[in-house]
Amino acid sequence: MEKKRGGDAPVQCELEANKNYAWCTCGHSDDQPFCNGSHRAAKATPSMVFTVEEDKTAYLCTCKQTKNPPYCDGSHN
Ligand code: FES
Repeated sequence: MEKKRGGDAPVQCELEANKNYAWCTCGHSDDQPFCNGSHRAAKATPSMVFTVEEDKTAYLCTCKQTKNPPYCDGSHN
């Protein structure tokens, strides 16, 4: 199955330094913007694991159109 929009706007997240996050790349997760394993049943692309170097607030993409994953770049508009 193809990727789909997981939402129409980014989700504000408080990210902690050096923690692994699994950003949903496929849009099928009900736990946006993060992967919940739904990509397996959907036969879609797996998650993208990422970390940040310092604690920060980030706006993570849910529409899956961003050119700068996992961050929103305004492509949902
Ligand atoms: S559910 Fe979308 S990447 Fe895992």
